[in-house]
Amino acid sequence: MRIERLSTAVPVMAGFAEDVRAGLSRAGQKELPSKYFYDEVGSGLFEVICTLPQYGLTRADERILRRHAVDIVSRLPSPVVVAELGSGSGRKTRFIIEALCRRQPVTYHPIEISPTALERCEREMSDIAAVSVVGFERPYLDGLLAAAARRREGECLLVLFLGSTIGNFDRPAGERFLSQVRGMLRPGDALLLGTDLVKSRPVMLAAYDDELGVTAAFNLNLLARINRELDGGFDLAQFAHLALFNETERRIEMHLRSRMAQTVRIGALGLEAPFAEDETIWTENSHKYTAEEVVEMAARNGFRCEAQWIDQEWPFAQNLLIV
Ligand SMILES: C[S@@+](CC[C@H](N)C(=O)[O-])C[C@H]1O[C@@H](n2cnc3c(N)ncnc32)[C@H](O)[C@@H]1O
Repeated sequence: MRIERLSTAVPVMAGFAEDVRAGLSRAGQKELPSKYFYDEVGSGLFEVICTLPQYGLTRADERILRRHAVDIVSRLPSPVVVAELGSGSGRKTRFIIEALCRRQPVTYHPIEISPTALERCEREMSDIAAVSVVGFERPYLDGLLAAAARRREGECLLVLFLGSTIGNFDRPAGERFLSQVRGMLRPGDALLLGTDLVKSRPVMLAAYDDELGVTAAFNLNLLARINRELDGGFDLAQFAHLALFNETERRIEMHLRSRMAQTVRIGALGLEAPFAEDETIWTENSHKYTAEEVVEMAARNGFRCEAQWIDQEWPFAQNLLIV
């Protein structure tokens, strides 16, 4: 095993202050980008969410990868370099890496904005002898560009985008993202894309509003992070976690609802953010798909769907898309 870590010259989080300012001072719906959930506390809470009985998504993704990893890699040419967008802990990824390592030594590039997640992922791979881990602490596309530039002549690139993280983009942005990924790939390269499918409303809602309050803590940690890093004055007890299903857009939305009229000062920004009672900050989208929609979306952006595996317990599709 070989592990290298390549960080970006520009700090990944340089935009945090600007995005908080823009998101909290806009007229109309206040918004904070979900990528800021994943500091050390948030990455830890996300790992706990993945173990919750109500959050079937990760287990479905993992079942598919465990059962079908050999089939998945058998459909790829050799040799293969793997790059993963937002790897998180890499726990599910190991099934793919192990299957590939049975036929060749593998270079694996986890791409992460969370140093905590990247460290976990590197640890996860540390007992696989035939893998070289070269992680990129960078945003998705910067990392993918760097990973693609390092591959040698004749190596094909397998990009992993697991866990239905694509659902955090709204549909047009998700398509633009697919098209940008496609632009960095060559014929014969592949994208393994995890997509959570539409299911009954109570099941979807419970997955984002568990009774233990772990998802609520994950959501509220965004305000706690602003308090820690930007000298924010949020009183967390005065905000409530809210998950709702937006039928028109087929997505779960997470918000933070102000329990009363209040003004919050963010010291480092010299910003006073006013909130009306029940006003919300929109913090995350998780779009839900149909299996056919994913195939069409892939085709519109230059990919052919080679195969699709659907979990029977928790509707979730793993899609192998080939350039
Ligand atoms: C929903 S989690 C999914 C983690 C893992 N892929 C899984 O399936 O469990 C999203 C991960 O992507 C990372 N992430 C979010 N936005 C990112 C960005 N713009 N660039 C790179 N990583 C990002 C987060 O730090 C987090 O670990």
